[in-house]
Amino acid sequence: MKAWEAWNGPLGRHWADHHERYDAMLAPFDTALFEAAAIGVADRVLDIGCGSGGTSREAARLARRGRVTGVDVSGPLVERARALTGPAHGHVTFELGDAQVHPFTPGGYDVAISRGGVMFFSDHVAAFTHIGEALRPGGRLVFVCPRPASSGGEEREALMLLASLAGGDHAVDTSVARSMASLSDPERTRSLLDAAGFEDVSAVPVSAATRWGEDAADAVDFFVSRTQGPPVTDRTRAAMTDVFRPYETPEGVLLRAGVWVVSAGRPHRAAAASARTSGGRPPAGWRAR
Ligand SMILES: C[S@@+](CC[C@H](N)C(=O)[O-])C[C@H]1O[C@@H](n2cnc3c(N)ncnc32)[C@H](O)[C@@H]1O
Repeated sequence: MKAWEAWNGPLGRHWADHHERYDAMLAPFDTALFEAAAIGVADRVLDIGCGSGGTSREAARLARRGRVTGVDVSGPLVERARALTGPAHGHVTFELGDAQVHPFTPGGYDVAISRGGVMFFSDHVAAFTHIGEALRPGGRLVFVCPRPASSGGEEREALMLLASLAGGDHAVDTSVARSMASLSDPERTRSLLDAAGFEDVSAVPVSAATRWGEDAADAVDFFVSRTQGPPVTDRTRAAMTDVFRPYETPEGVLLRAGVWVVSAGRPHRAAAASARTSGGRPPAGWRAR
């Protein structure tokens, strides 16, 4: 299944219906994302794969004299983003489109951000090249993407256990699951961005607790609702509840997860890019660990 189909099907509708929960799960990474993006008050910001628009609205708060464009391939999510964005955010617009080929104004943005929206491209070099062309010379791209399963995150471990308990009928679409990990290797991400003409690439690991629900039972309901399989048995539900139970806290079910915050710059001059790509060495700003 292509990303477009998945995000315009049950998956996209689930994200739209549960936007508050997804937003709360991802919000712990916002500080690192926005610190790296360093959005200025008059910046023109592009939010790639903006979903229900939480990060677009935060960007608009920072770029209060600029403007923000959120682009997303999912009809249900763009509709939800528009509905959630009131008149106080008059300088935010949402566009339905595939960021890989969307007709952005060339050089029309100072900064492009993405909280988990750039992993699903079918051709990352082509997509990042296209996004780079939407940035002004000297503009920057900053995005958050998952770190690999081996980074020992509690979230990843719990999700794997839950998936095996739920069985194949309850698996999230495998092509989406594969895409989620497409930028987990920072060396590969660097070479993709390098090939797309970016410079000064850095990838900083960030860990945070993601909130899955009020309590273990609520987290199980949410987990099961994400999939299309038949109702789970009481026995399976009880086993799933046991998976979440150790992570119950007064603030809800919290699972530690790891992401990369990746930053890259569009060269001030095209010549800078070609000089850099011929070097073969990681650029000075590279800090993958
Ligand atoms: C993991 S969700 C993150 C949503 C949002 N950034 C957030 O933090 O809540 C991934 C988003 O990327 C969008 N997406 C996937 N492929 C895309 C593409 N090629 N162009 C634009 N959006 C895309 C999906 O529709 C979805 O909204």
